[in-house]
Amino acid sequence: MTSFDAFFSRDANAFRPSAIRAFAKLVNDPNVISFAGGSPNPDTFPAERIAEIAARVVRERRAVALQYGPTRGLPRLCDFIASLAASRGITCSGADVIVTTGSQQALDIVSHTLLDPGDVVLVELPTYIGGTSSFYARSANVVGVAQDDEGIVPESLAEVAARTKPKLLYTIPNFQNPSGRLMTQERRTRVLEIAREHDFLIIEDDPYGELVYVDGADTTPLKSRDEDNRIIYLGSFSKVLAPGLRCGFIIAAPEIQQRIEIGKQAADLCSGMLDQSIVDEFCAAGELAPQIAKVRDFYRGKRATLLDALEQHFSGRAKWTHADGGLFTFVTLDDDIDTAAYVEQSVKNGVAFIPGAPFFVDGSGRNTMRLTFARESDERMRSGVEKLARTLSSSRT
Ligand SMILES: Cc1ncc(COP(=O)(O)O)c(C=O)c1O
Repeated sequence: MTSFDAFFSRDANAFRPSAIRAFAKLVNDPNVISFAGGSPNPDTFPAERIAEIAARVVRERRAVALQYGPTRGLPRLCDFIASLAASRGITCSGADVIVTTGSQQALDIVSHTLLDPGDVVLVELPTYIGGTSSFYARSANVVGVAQDDEGIVPESLAEVAARTKPKLLYTIPNFQNPSGRLMTQERRTRVLEIAREHDFLIIEDDPYGELVYVDGADTTPLKSRDEDNRIIYLGSFSKVLAPGLRCGFIIAAPEIQQRIEIGKQAADLCSGMLDQSIVDEFCAAGELAPQIAKVRDFYRGKRATLLDALEQHFSGRAKWTHADGGLFTFVTLDDDIDTAAYVEQSVKNGVAFIPGAPFFVDGSGRNTMRLTFARESDERMRSGVEKLARTLSSSRT
């Protein structure tokens, strides 16, 4: 056949490749100091414990770990997730939880369950590209709302909501990817009020809420005060345990959960039972809390090093976010600097970063970039920031 164009669905024609994957190809060289990744550091994965648990569940619990399981997830794991949610202020039981194949599957299935072509989804400027990919894949109309250092700007949300009549708002209030920002509790209250006023649902995506590096950061989810159950809360074990164990979850109103469950039956029958069994055993043994403490300790110093190096080399010529948690800081340079134009030169000079524009659905953000502190040693980060400052001072070649 010469062309398959006539066979692709309308939704497939709306698929958008991730603009940052193209940059990721540039950064596999170990000689390049990389601020570009979006993944947790493998040194945080409790590999030996996972190996031990995996061997045990395969040998001793094969009828569970190697078998199909309930679409909603392993019951004991659902109960554990409900208790985890309760520790974050969310009242629910195991029956309110659906385990998913990473929170990325949650984004896909929620989009499939709620969106028709042309429906408006509001997203933060900037936002997570995997979120917008799921919305575009359902031919949604994705519209940006302004964000500042306190989170979503309520005036912008109210104005855009009145103009576009959205069905959904997608928000990442805790240490957002890509900005690293933490939305204040006041803003969260306003966002919820505006959602009630304009009657839209909210997807609250919270994979980074446990990765806190400073005292006093209030990460209490919006879902904790969701009196009319309009929030679909997503969580994940990827950043605290290991993303290869594809294990995320959804907590939402029973009526929405029932539909999501049917959608998930069509998608994959159930999430990987081996992955769930490993996560379940790990959590049931009481190991998640100490693991989270270790992960925080691992990143705390790295985050401080990156912020310190930025202070040293970018002071007065850029602004960057505090990144009190999560994996990223987001840098804003002078308006006339297009960071994408510097990527290639920067990689040649031995440093990789992610230009910020792909995270903005309205085409803005050309003068921004995302830097992760997850990957490199302190020494390489210091040297990398110095090189980056030099590259961004030079004229483009
Ligand atoms: C904001 C956000 N949501 C969801 C995901 C997907 O995570 P996972 O599918 O591994 O749970 C990521 C991954 O980087 C993310 O940054």
